[in-house]
Amino acid sequence: MRQYIQQLLNGCIEGFHRDGVLPADFVPSFTVENTKDKKNGDFATNLAMILCRRMGRPPRAVAEMIVAALPASDRIAKVEIAGPGFINFFMNADHVAAAVYAMSQDPRLGVPLTAAPETVVVDYSSPNVAKEMAVHHIRSTVIGDSVVRVLEFLGHRVIRANHVGDWGTQFGMLIAYLEKMENEGADSLAVADLEAFYRSAKVLYDEDQEFAARARSYVVRLQGGDEYCRSMWKKLVQMTMDLDQQIYDRLGVSLKMEHVMGESLYNPMLPEIAGDLERRGMAVTDQGALVVFLEEFKGKDGNPMGVIIRKSDGGYLYTTTDIACAKYRVEHFHASRILYFIDSRQHDHLIQAWTIARKAGYVPENVSLEHESFGMMLGKDGRPFKTRSGGTVKLSELLDEAESRVASLLEGRGSELTGEERQEVIHAVAMGAVKYADLSKNRTTDYIFDWDTMLSFEGNTAPYLQYAYTRIRSVFRKTDGTPGPVKITCPQEEQLALKLLRFGEVVEQVAQKGMPHLLCTYLYELSGLFMSFYESCPVNRSGIEEKIRSSRLSLCAATAGVVKTGLSLLGISVLEKM
Ligand code: ARG
Repeated sequence: MRQYIQQLLNGCIEGFHRDGVLPADFVPSFTVENTKDKKNGDFATNLAMILCRRMGRPPRAVAEMIVAALPASDRIAKVEIAGPGFINFFMNADHVAAAVYAMSQDPRLGVPLTAAPETVVVDYSSPNVAKEMAVHHIRSTVIGDSVVRVLEFLGHRVIRANHVGDWGTQFGMLIAYLEKMENEGADSLAVADLEAFYRSAKVLYDEDQEFAARARSYVVRLQGGDEYCRSMWKKLVQMTMDLDQQIYDRLGVSLKMEHVMGESLYNPMLPEIAGDLERRGMAVTDQGALVVFLEEFKGKDGNPMGVIIRKSDGGYLYTTTDIACAKYRVEHFHASRILYFIDSRQHDHLIQAWTIARKAGYVPENVSLEHESFGMMLGKDGRPFKTRSGGTVKLSELLDEAESRVASLLEGRGSELTGEERQEVIHAVAMGAVKYADLSKNRTTDYIFDWDTMLSFEGNTAPYLQYAYTRIRSVFRKTDGTPGPVKITCPQEEQLALKLLRFGEVVEQVAQKGMPHLLCTYLYELSGLFMSFYESCPVNRSGIEEKIRSSRLSLCAATAGVVKTGLSLLGISVLEKM
């Protein structure tokens, strides 16, 4: 609807260009807003105010010219000029009704597939081998997976890239330790506590010289492609990813083993990149290391910042890998957008890698590199989220706790569900609550992890939305009517209908900005409007005219569809009963 008005206004601007009343090279950026007060119609634009100076006329005069230039449209009931020159649009209620009815019958809920499908690489989750998934990986996983779903829903080609930390000098130590454990008869694949594994390996490395020497020789052998070391390394990767996969599956995250594109994938490219940067004169040798000095970034001393490409011992760094990785994503996938869901602390790192990749021509201008940065997860005390003893919170334990809390919550609400059905509800509500708590906040800020708010059935939470959905579904279980054409008879119906019609626009914004919280806010507001509609517009009460009932059932159907699809785009499931 809003896009439609935007199109009409763009038509007016083109007309002004043609008629020479507006300089042809002036392309205005104007807004079309949803009005707050319905006295001002449904939408308003500031276009006249944006054009007036360039057209040398007062804004109200320009507004009149715009209104005169608008083509007749059966979707718009009335257009008015208000205040200094705002133009207010009143939508035709019959058109709104017809559009919502069509939406209620459309599996895509009126959201078109994109006209210009892009190839989008989404770098997300990206845990490290032989380490427990940490809090910033959870955020990346949950937010990234939602954006992946939204992009695919719109018809884009999405490449999921799990940039697992599976390379580096620590692997000598890890291989040596795995070997020791295997020799001692421990079943290596049954290692469930990765933190403990890593810690013990490190202790031994620091204390046992013989072990440390063996570890160092294994790094060299691994890098040289030695078969034994490679197979031990593979085991480490596999045992970590098996544990991570359990978490993905439990959370309903769409990542699979085949999406792992770890750091090791780019390792063979690194010598060539170093050589190439050197040949182009971008990288120079400085105290034995190969360094790129970036004029656009100043270090503390005011001199150009040096980014190390290759250390003096010949080793490569995290940044070198990300340069290669960006190049690979352009060459191999022909990506036009590459989204990185990584916490804000790695911003400088990314910018350095990208600046070098662009300068070297590995990533052309028309490919967009986007850091979908996010803040930290904090405890209720405002400090980084940790266990009481200060350790990392194990994700699997956190999810266990969510489920047990939901179980007692259901008990408290007098839920009559039993057996498998009960289990299913507990699982869906618990995973939904944990994910939604993260998804619903603007990702750029830190967020406070708080059980009580996330599990509440009131407010902007997953349980609230899941419950709202079951209420809509229960309308259909109780009715003997059938959905039919929509007729708007009261303000609650109109507001619900207009909100429903904005679904596509919101989904599009999530895809553009990589911000699922916009969808959460929308679903929350939609559910609120539905509740007011439901209170003042009875559906199944006896004495309701058949046509009105059918119309209201269609509004219910469209709302149920949007809530279900919206939640599924967030990676959250709905239930028929709770
Ligand atoms: N493994 C990294 C970490 O744990 C995150 C990787 C993010 N992706 C990237 N292309 N650098 O911090």
